[in-house]
Amino acid sequence: MATPNNKLRIPETLRNVKNLVGVFSAKGGVGKSAVSLQLALSLKEQGYRVGLVDADIYGPSQATMLNSGPGELEVTNDSVIQPLMKKGISFISMGLISERKMPVIWRGPMVSGAVMQLLAQTNWGKLDYLIIDTPPGTGDVQLTLLQQIPLTGTVIVTTPQEVSISDCRKGIEMILKLSIPVLGLIENMSWFQPSDSNNKYFLFGKDGGKKLASEYNIKLLAQLPLIETHNKKGLLESDTMKNIFKKLTIDLIKFVEKEKSKKGNSIPQTNITK
Ligand SMILES: Nc1ncnc2c1ncn2[C@@H]1O[C@H](COP(=O)(O)OP(=O)(O)O)[C@@H](O)[C@H]1O
Ligand SMILES: [Mg+2]
Repeated sequence: MATPNNKLRIPETLRNVKNLVGVFSAKGGVGKSAVSLQLALSLKEQGYRVGLVDADIYGPSQATMLNSGPGELEVTNDSVIQPLMKKGISFISMGLISERKMPVIWRGPMVSGAVMQLLAQTNWGKLDYLIIDTPPGTGDVQLTLLQQIPLTGTVIVTTPQEVSISDCRKGIEMILKLSIPVLGLIENMSWFQPSDSNNKYFLFGKDGGKKLASEYNIKLLAQLPLIETHNKKGLLESDTMKNIFKKLTIDLIKFVEKEKSKKGNSIPQTNITK
Protein backbone atom coordinates (compact mmCIF):
# COMPACT_ATOMS: atom_id res chain seq x y z
CA MET A 1 0.00 0.00 0.00
CA ALA A 2 1.40 3.38 -0.91
CA THR A 3 2.16 5.75 1.92
CA PRO A 4 0.96 9.35 1.60
CA ASN A 5 4.26 10.45 0.09
CA ASN A 6 3.93 7.56 -2.35
CA LYS A 7 6.94 5.59 -1.13
CA LEU A 8 6.76 1.90 -0.35
CA ARG A 9 6.81 0.84 3.24
CA ILE A 10 9.55 -1.72 3.43
CA PRO A 11 9.45 -4.44 6.02
CA GLU A 12 12.56 -4.19 8.18
CA THR A 13 13.59 -7.76 7.35
CA LEU A 14 14.00 -6.79 3.69
CA ARG A 15 16.17 -3.76 4.44
CA ASN A 16 19.43 -5.52 3.62
CA VAL A 17 18.16 -7.29 0.53
CA LYS A 18 19.70 -5.59 -2.49
CA ASN A 19 17.51 -7.04 -5.23
CA LEU A 20 14.04 -8.54 -5.11
CA VAL A 21 13.05 -10.51 -8.18
CA GLY A 22 9.51 -11.88 -8.56
CA VAL A 23 8.98 -14.87 -10.85
CA PHE A 24 5.51 -14.59 -12.37
CA SER A 25 3.24 -16.34 -14.81
CA ALA A 26 -0.49 -16.25 -14.63
CA LYS A 27 -0.58 -19.98 -15.40
CA GLY A 28 0.18 -22.92 -13.13
CA GLY A 29 2.35 -25.86 -14.08
CA VAL A 30 4.54 -23.94 -16.50
CA GLY A 31 7.68 -24.26 -14.42
CA LYS A 32 7.75 -21.11 -12.25
CA SER A 33 8.95 -23.04 -9.23
CA ALA A 34 11.54 -24.99 -11.18
CA VAL A 35 12.80 -21.76 -12.79
CA SER A 36 12.86 -19.86 -9.47
CA LEU A 37 14.95 -22.56 -7.85
CA GLN A 38 17.36 -22.91 -10.79
CA LEU A 39 17.74 -19.14 -10.87
CA ALA A 40 18.47 -19.01 -7.15
CA LEU A 41 21.01 -21.82 -7.37
CA SER A 42 22.66 -20.33 -10.43
CA LEU A 43 23.04 -16.91 -8.74
CA LYS A 44 24.51 -18.65 -5.71
CA GLU A 45 26.98 -20.51 -7.95
CA GLN A 46 28.12 -17.11 -9.21
CA GLY A 47 28.96 -16.02 -5.70
CA TYR A 48 25.87 -14.06 -4.71
CA ARG A 49 24.03 -14.32 -1.40
CA VAL A 50 20.63 -15.62 -2.37
CA GLY A 51 17.27 -16.19 -0.74
CA LEU A 52 14.21 -17.97 -2.12
CA VAL A 53 10.65 -17.56 -0.93
CA ASP A 54 7.91 -19.89 -2.07
CA ALA A 55 4.86 -17.66 -2.04
CA ASP A 56 2.53 -20.30 -3.44
CA ILE A 57 0.22 -20.92 -0.52
CA TYR A 58 -2.00 -23.36 -2.38
CA GLY A 59 0.74 -25.50 -3.86
CA PRO A 60 4.08 -24.85 -2.20
CA SER A 61 6.44 -27.07 -4.18
CA GLN A 62 9.84 -25.66 -3.24
CA ALA A 63 9.83 -27.44 0.11
CA THR A 64 9.41 -30.76 -1.69
CA MET A 65 12.06 -29.90 -4.27
CA LEU A 66 14.46 -28.99 -1.49
CA ASN A 67 13.58 -32.03 0.61
CA SER A 68 12.34 -30.08 3.58
CA GLY A 69 9.17 -30.02 5.57
CA PRO A 70 7.35 -28.80 8.65
CA GLY A 71 9.35 -29.09 11.83
CA GLU A 72 12.60 -27.73 10.42
CA LEU A 73 11.72 -24.09 11.00
CA GLU A 74 13.11 -22.25 13.94
CA VAL A 75 11.11 -19.36 15.26
CA THR A 76 13.58 -17.21 17.16
CA ASN A 77 10.95 -15.24 18.99
CA ASP A 78 7.25 -14.60 18.56
CA SER A 79 7.58 -12.81 15.29
CA VAL A 80 10.78 -13.71 13.47
CA ILE A 81 11.40 -16.88 11.50
CA GLN A 82 14.90 -18.05 10.68
CA PRO A 83 15.05 -19.16 7.02
CA LEU A 84 16.41 -22.63 6.28
CA MET A 85 19.76 -22.95 4.56
CA LYS A 86 19.31 -25.35 1.64
CA LYS A 87 21.96 -25.90 -1.03
CA GLY A 88 23.56 -22.64 0.07
CA ILE A 89 20.43 -20.51 -0.27
CA SER A 90 18.20 -19.04 2.43
CA PHE A 91 14.83 -20.57 1.96
CA ILE A 92 11.32 -20.17 3.29
CA SER A 93 8.03 -21.63 2.12
CA MET A 94 4.43 -21.93 3.20
CA GLY A 95 5.13 -25.65 2.83
CA LEU A 96 7.34 -25.39 5.91
CA ILE A 97 4.56 -24.09 8.08
CA SER A 98 2.86 -26.93 9.89
CA GLU A 99 -0.03 -28.30 7.86
CA ARG A 100 -2.17 -28.43 10.97
CA LYS A 101 -1.94 -24.67 11.27
CA MET A 102 -3.02 -24.12 7.68
CA PRO A 103 -6.68 -23.42 7.11
CA VAL A 104 -8.13 -25.57 4.36
CA ILE A 105 -9.77 -22.68 2.58
CA TRP A 106 -7.94 -19.39 2.31
CA ARG A 107 -9.71 -16.34 1.12
CA GLY A 108 -7.84 -13.90 -1.13
CA PRO A 109 -6.99 -11.23 1.45
CA MET A 110 -5.98 -13.88 3.99
CA VAL A 111 -3.63 -15.48 1.49
CA SER A 112 -1.97 -12.24 0.46
CA GLY A 113 -1.69 -11.36 4.15
CA ALA A 114 0.05 -14.67 4.82
CA VAL A 115 2.49 -14.13 1.96
CA MET A 116 3.38 -10.67 3.17
CA GLN A 117 3.81 -12.04 6.67
CA LEU A 118 6.10 -14.77 5.40
CA LEU A 119 8.24 -12.20 3.60
CA ALA A 120 8.25 -9.65 6.36
CA GLN A 121 8.74 -11.96 9.33
CA THR A 122 11.65 -13.92 7.94
CA ASN A 123 15.08 -12.89 9.07
CA TRP A 124 16.64 -12.59 5.60
CA GLY A 125 19.77 -10.82 6.75
CA LYS A 126 22.08 -9.55 4.01
CA LEU A 127 21.19 -10.85 0.57
CA ASP A 128 22.18 -9.87 -2.95
CA TYR A 129 19.08 -11.48 -4.44
CA LEU A 130 15.77 -12.61 -3.04
CA ILE A 131 13.80 -14.66 -5.56
CA ILE A 132 10.06 -14.78 -5.01
CA ASP A 133 8.29 -17.78 -6.53
CA THR A 134 4.68 -16.66 -6.95
CA PRO A 135 1.45 -18.64 -7.19
CA PRO A 136 -0.43 -18.76 -10.51
CA GLY A 137 -3.06 -16.16 -11.30
CA THR A 138 -3.53 -12.41 -11.40
CA GLY A 139 -5.36 -12.04 -8.14
CA ASP A 140 -4.83 -10.68 -4.65
CA VAL A 141 -1.47 -12.28 -3.93
CA GLN A 142 0.14 -11.07 -7.15
CA LEU A 143 -1.37 -7.61 -6.77
CA THR A 144 -0.22 -7.36 -3.17
CA LEU A 145 3.32 -8.46 -4.01
CA LEU A 146 3.53 -6.06 -6.93
CA GLN A 147 2.14 -3.15 -4.94
CA GLN A 148 3.69 -3.64 -1.54
CA ILE A 149 7.08 -5.20 -2.16
CA PRO A 150 9.73 -2.98 -3.75
CA LEU A 151 10.53 -5.42 -6.53
CA THR A 152 13.63 -4.68 -8.55
CA GLY A 153 11.89 -6.49 -11.36
CA THR A 154 10.01 -9.53 -12.54
CA VAL A 155 10.79 -12.58 -14.62
CA ILE A 156 7.95 -14.06 -16.67
CA VAL A 157 7.69 -17.79 -17.26
CA THR A 158 5.48 -19.39 -19.91
CA THR A 159 5.26 -22.47 -22.06
CA PRO A 160 4.79 -22.01 -25.82
CA GLN A 161 1.14 -23.13 -25.54
CA GLU A 162 -1.60 -20.66 -26.42
CA VAL A 163 -3.42 -21.29 -23.10
CA SER A 164 -0.30 -20.29 -21.22
CA ILE A 165 0.49 -17.37 -23.51
CA SER A 166 -2.95 -15.79 -23.15
CA ASP A 167 -2.86 -16.08 -19.35
CA CYS A 168 0.68 -14.78 -19.29
CA ARG A 169 -0.35 -11.77 -21.35
CA LYS A 170 -2.77 -10.83 -18.55
CA GLY A 171 0.06 -11.16 -16.06
CA ILE A 172 2.37 -8.95 -18.11
CA GLU A 173 -0.37 -6.33 -18.54
CA MET A 174 -0.87 -6.28 -14.77
CA ILE A 175 2.85 -5.90 -14.08
CA LEU A 176 3.27 -3.13 -16.66
CA LYS A 177 0.19 -1.31 -15.41
CA LEU A 178 1.84 -1.14 -12.00
CA SER A 179 5.06 0.13 -13.61
CA ILE A 180 7.17 -2.76 -12.36
CA PRO A 181 10.09 -3.60 -14.66
CA VAL A 182 9.97 -6.89 -16.56
CA LEU A 183 13.56 -8.11 -16.61
CA GLY A 184 12.93 -10.89 -19.08
CA LEU A 185 10.84 -13.83 -20.23
CA ILE A 186 11.71 -17.50 -20.03
CA GLU A 187 9.97 -19.91 -22.37
CA ASN A 188 9.87 -23.32 -20.68
CA MET A 189 9.11 -26.76 -22.09
CA SER A 190 9.96 -25.39 -25.53
CA TRP A 191 10.84 -28.76 -27.08
CA PHE A 192 11.95 -32.26 -26.31
CA GLN A 193 15.04 -33.71 -27.87
CA PRO A 194 15.72 -37.39 -27.16
CA SER A 195 19.33 -38.03 -26.16
CA ASP A 196 19.80 -40.35 -29.14
CA SER A 197 18.37 -38.00 -31.75
CA ASN A 198 19.03 -34.67 -33.42
CA ASN A 199 15.34 -34.03 -33.80
CA LYS A 200 13.59 -31.50 -31.64
CA TYR A 201 9.92 -32.15 -30.95
CA PHE A 202 7.88 -29.03 -30.31
CA LEU A 203 5.25 -30.68 -28.16
CA PHE A 204 3.55 -27.49 -27.03
CA GLY A 205 3.95 -25.46 -30.21
CA LYS A 206 6.92 -23.44 -31.37
CA ASP A 207 8.18 -20.05 -30.18
CA GLY A 208 5.00 -18.98 -28.35
CA GLY A 209 7.03 -17.35 -25.58
CA LYS A 210 9.50 -15.85 -28.02
CA LYS A 211 6.63 -14.17 -29.89
CA LEU A 212 5.07 -12.95 -26.64
CA ALA A 213 8.41 -11.44 -25.62
CA SER A 214 8.75 -9.55 -28.89
CA GLU A 215 5.11 -8.41 -28.70
CA TYR A 216 5.94 -6.60 -25.44
CA ASN A 217 9.53 -5.80 -26.31
CA ILE A 218 10.74 -7.97 -23.44
CA LYS A 219 14.08 -9.74 -23.51
CA LEU A 220 13.73 -13.48 -24.16
CA LEU A 221 16.15 -14.82 -21.56
CA ALA A 222 16.00 -18.44 -22.72
CA GLN A 223 14.02 -21.25 -24.26
CA LEU A 224 14.29 -24.27 -21.98
CA PRO A 225 13.92 -27.80 -23.29
CA LEU A 226 11.86 -30.46 -21.61
CA ILE A 227 14.23 -32.60 -19.59
CA GLU A 228 13.52 -36.26 -19.05
CA THR A 229 13.50 -36.84 -15.31
CA HIS A 230 12.60 -39.71 -13.10
CA ASN A 231 12.43 -37.51 -10.04
CA LYS A 232 12.61 -33.79 -9.28
CA LYS A 233 16.26 -34.00 -8.39
CA GLY A 234 16.94 -34.93 -12.00
CA LEU A 235 15.85 -31.54 -13.29
CA LEU A 236 18.07 -29.71 -10.81
CA GLU A 237 21.06 -31.80 -11.73
CA SER A 238 20.62 -31.56 -15.47
CA ASP A 239 23.79 -30.15 -17.04
CA THR A 240 21.75 -28.78 -19.93
CA MET A 241 19.67 -26.72 -17.50
CA LYS A 242 22.67 -25.66 -15.44
CA ASN A 243 24.46 -24.34 -18.54
CA ILE A 244 21.43 -22.46 -19.84
CA PHE A 245 20.87 -20.90 -16.42
CA LYS A 246 24.49 -19.91 -16.06
CA LYS A 247 24.19 -17.85 -19.22
CA LEU A 248 20.74 -16.41 -18.54
CA THR A 249 21.72 -15.43 -15.01
CA ILE A 250 24.55 -13.32 -16.38
CA ASP A 251 22.06 -11.59 -18.70
CA LEU A 252 19.59 -11.13 -15.86
CA ILE A 253 22.21 -9.52 -13.62
CA LYS A 254 22.97 -7.04 -16.41
CA PHE A 255 19.28 -6.12 -16.70
CA VAL A 256 18.98 -5.74 -12.96
CA GLU A 257 21.92 -3.33 -12.95
CA LYS A 258 20.41 -1.45 -15.88
CA GLU A 259 17.05 -1.10 -14.13
CA LYS A 260 18.75 0.08 -10.97
CA SER A 261 20.80 2.68 -12.77
CA LYS A 262 17.57 3.97 -14.34
CA LYS A 263 16.01 4.37 -10.93
CA GLY A 264 19.13 5.46 -9.11
CA ASN A 265 18.61 2.97 -6.36
CA SER A 266 16.25 0.00 -6.57
CA ILE A 267 15.03 -0.05 -3.02
CA PRO A 268 14.31 3.21 -1.28
CA GLN A 269 15.89 2.89 2.13
CA THR A 270 13.63 5.38 3.82
CA ASN A 271 10.26 4.75 5.39
CA ILE A 272 11.19 1.48 6.99
CA THR A 273 8.46 0.07 9.16
CA LYS A 274 8.84 -2.22 12.10
N1 LIG B 1 11.93 -27.99 -18.51
C1 LIG B 1 11.36 -28.95 -17.80
N2 LIG B 1 11.58 -30.26 -18.10
C2 LIG B 1 10.98 -31.24 -17.41
N3 LIG B 1 10.15 -31.04 -16.37
C3 LIG B 1 9.88 -29.77 -16.03
C4 LIG B 1 10.48 -28.66 -16.70
N4 LIG B 1 10.04 -27.51 -16.11
C5 LIG B 1 9.22 -27.89 -15.11
N5 LIG B 1 9.11 -29.22 -15.04
C6 LIG B 1 8.29 -30.02 -14.13
O1 LIG B 1 6.92 -29.67 -14.37
C7 LIG B 1 6.19 -29.63 -13.16
C8 LIG B 1 5.57 -28.24 -12.97
O2 LIG B 1 6.61 -27.31 -12.75
P1 LIG B 1 6.54 -26.22 -11.58
O3 LIG B 1 7.85 -25.56 -11.54
O4 LIG B 1 6.03 -26.84 -10.32
O5 LIG B 1 5.41 -25.27 -12.21
P2 LIG B 1 4.65 -24.02 -11.54
O6 LIG B 1 5.44 -23.56 -10.37
O7 LIG B 1 4.56 -23.01 -12.65
O8 LIG B 1 3.29 -24.53 -11.17
C9 LIG B 1 7.16 -30.01 -12.06
O9 LIG B 1 7.03 -31.38 -11.80
C10 LIG B 1 8.53 -29.71 -12.68
O10 LIG B 1 9.55 -30.51 -12.14
MG1 LIG C 1 4.91 -23.37 -8.38
